[in-house]
Amino acid sequence: MTTAVFPGSFDPFTKGHAAVVRQALEIFDRVVIGIGENLAKNYLLPLEARRSLIAGLYAGEPRVDVEIYGGMTGDFALSKGARAIIRGVRNTTDFEYERTMESANRRLYPSIVTVMLFTPSDVADIASSTVREILAFGRDVDEFMPEGVDIRKYLR
Ligand code: PNS
Repeated sequence: MTTAVFPGSFDPFTKGHAAVVRQALEIFDRVVIGIGENLAKNYLLPLEARRSLIAGLYAGEPRVDVEIYGGMTGDFALSKGARAIIRGVRNTTDFEYERTMESANRRLYPSIVTVMLFTPSDVADIASSTVREILAFGRDVDEFMPEGVDIRKYLR
């Protein structure tokens, strides 16, 4: 069984992330969505809210697990028996950041391969940071969220 971890902040998990999970399930038997810590970010949603939003979406999908982890993503991947770290890429700005992170992970965890998946063009404009900004102005973000997710349930 091939396992991949899909790490991220997921603040919040969007339609774009869901599209990456769908593609990852085409090539891996199991995908563990890992909610990790990006030291450069201030988060809007509490960790547990981010976890429960994603867990609700995949409640009927036995091939997807959702976990919160602390520490390095490579250690999390090894602890899950994963061969790969999945990352979604939308554009060249993402690419530069992902390239650097891939290199660091490859140096530190040579047995783990980073697999970049392109976010489909119909959702490639969606960023969690944009969703947070729109929310800050009190506007509705339903069209950025996976079908049926009401973000208001998860806000502090
Ligand atoms: O959604 P994000 O904010 O791009 O996710 C980034 C995340 C959490 C995957 C990244 O910051 C991360 O891996 N943090 C844990 C520390 C680590 O392993 N860094 C990568 C090697 S420098």
